[in-house]
Amino acid sequence: MKHVKIASIPADGIGPEVISAGIEVVLAAMERSTDTQIEFTHFDWGSDYYKKTGTMMPEDGLETLKSFDAIFFGSVGAPDVPDHITLWGLRLPICQGFDQYANVRPTRILPGITAPLRNKGPGDLDWVIVRENSEGEYSGNGGRAHRGMPEEVGTEVAIFTRTGVTRIMRYAFELARERPRKLLTVVTKSNAQRHGMVMWDEIAEEVSAEYPDVSWDKMLVDAMTVRMTLQPESLDTIVATNLHADILSDLAGALAGSIGVAPTANIDPQRRFPSMFEPIHGSAFDITGKGIANPVATFWTACQMLEHIGQPDASHRIMRAVEAVCAEGVMTPDIGGTASTQQVTDAVIGHIRGANR
Ligand code: IPM
Ligand code: MG
Repeated sequence: MKHVKIASIPADGIGPEVISAGIEVVLAAMERSTDTQIEFTHFDWGSDYYKKTGTMMPEDGLETLKSFDAIFFGSVGAPDVPDHITLWGLRLPICQGFDQYANVRPTRILPGITAPLRNKGPGDLDWVIVRENSEGEYSGNGGRAHRGMPEEVGTEVAIFTRTGVTRIMRYAFELARERPRKLLTVVTKSNAQRHGMVMWDEIAEEVSAEYPDVSWDKMLVDAMTVRMTLQPESLDTIVATNLHADILSDLAGALAGSIGVAPTANIDPQRRFPSMFEPIHGSAFDITGKGIANPVATFWTACQMLEHIGQPDASHRIMRAVEAVCAEGVMTPDIGGTASTQQVTDAVIGHIRGANR
């Protein structure tokens, strides 16, 4: 029996509710496996830990996580801890420390979900956004001087490197090649930003030569929002910078009907370190503890995690079960249903076990 070790970090707000639902579903999907067993180890890191200890995770946190095959992450953010502390104290150190440079965000209109686009249904919106996850506008490069004075300055410098752009571009071309339409859209803002963004365009051109079977085009990020809204069916795989893809992935989630169902994977494609899987939605303190958090984003990212650790069958079983449950209308209130987190979870597990028989 092969033992796969997964670190779970539920962290803040609804994180613990959706992660425990996700673990139930993963274990149900693995029941049939005769050769692999998944073991979860829990870490109580996050904002409560910060309030007790002054740090979001222990100093040797990354060292501890290194021995795991993957990380299953809930959400960070608390009303009484500044956002930059929670973010730079836990999630970003993991992403950057483990060089999880590819952030992968699939979006589809799931069956049974009403999307805001007129006359568009499930087949019309099926995208994967590849977000550069290690540098760019999130590199943390900048500073402040003359604080509080009229002449105060603050800089926030985006860093783009040839290595960083080339590797994310290759990842995106590879992913586009694996998908049926073999279609990639490269997003920049190279009209207004004439250094780093022009380098993105040039590197896209160079890398594209290695993938003659992938069709690709370029979009400026502002025009991209229009195309996503008016011609969603013209897009398939999308690659963009850290910040651009952050914004576009929220738009994608909204156009698909709910950001509450959107998953994300922070991948180290070279597998030197564990990759991290999380729902995109935040900690949602307004509904924490009410038992109505939507677990679908967590189930979907669990599918990404199972793919990554070499369990594609279990992944497909979960995704098919999620689609069936959504189509039946068993949904939480954020997407128009009346079900609780546990009812959605039980329904998904019911489908998985039904298919198991
Ligand atoms: C996301 C989130 C984060 C980001 C926030 C919480 C900083 O919006 O994963 O898209 O911008 O990376
Ligand atoms: Mg975001």
